[in-house]
Amino acid sequence: MKPNQKLKLSKKVQVKNMFDSISAEYDLLNRIMTFGNDIRWRKKIYKIAKSDNPKDILDIATGTADIALELSKITESSIIGLDISEQMLEVGRKKINNKKLSNKVVLISGDAENLDYEKESFDLVTIGFGVRNFENLEKGLKESHRVLRSRGKLIILETSVPENSIIKFFYFFFSRSFIPLIGSLFSKDKTAYQYLQKSAEKFPSGKNFILVLNKCGFSNVKVQTQMFGATSIYIAKK
Ligand SMILES: C[S@@+](CC[C@H](N)C(=O)[O-])C[C@H]1O[C@@H](n2cnc3c(N)ncnc32)[C@H](O)[C@@H]1O
Repeated sequence: MKPNQKLKLSKKVQVKNMFDSISAEYDLLNRIMTFGNDIRWRKKIYKIAKSDNPKDILDIATGTADIALELSKITESSIIGLDISEQMLEVGRKKINNKKLSNKVVLISGDAENLDYEKESFDLVTIGFGVRNFENLEKGLKESHRVLRSRGKLIILETSVPENSIIKFFYFFFSRSFIPLIGSLFSKDKTAYQYLQKSAEKFPSGKNFILVLNKCGFSNVKVQTQMFGATSIYIAKK
């Protein structure tokens, strides 16, 4: 390699480094950028999930474990939270210890695209604001499909782009100004928040994301849009 030639890191390594660097402020900024709605969305995921009374749950891209902690309210459930960012998991582990939930929730370093579990190991897989960070989206979703038991459920919470053109106009204005501004005020990694905003605009949502889920083997996909369509909860069956 020539001395001035920069090594191009894979998307996975860049994503891991980025979440490692913003782990300390992630929870606070998440709350600010969603106007506190992230708490409500996680409660919705819990309500959708508990109707099937799942026992074995895998929360992929668990980050600081907020979804995993919410799901721990399901009686007799045991939850594995998996993430590639060890620093995000460290923040999550502190919360789990504080809540004395380490017998129910375990956090593990791992890659959504290469899961170290046998096929049909889980009743429920959840992924909150994770899929748009995958290096290979279809590979990650197919892995979720593989580890789910027959008729198991996948619940995905992800940003989406509103379909209504007037709302879309305000959405773009807001996301292109507010999110990078908050990032630059509160975070030492400004580029991270530029990435989060840009990746949200480019990621397939609504019908397009349902097509991807179908291609990866999921059926019966339902969508619940949140915050004028800026976020969606997808519920799919194996
Ligand atoms: C925006 S955070 C979401 C955290 C949490 N689920 C939430 O709802 O707040 C995205 C997380 O996805 C993780 N991630 C990205 N790609 C991943 C992969 N291939 N495997 C596992 N985790 C991944 C990142 O490390 C990061 O912690």
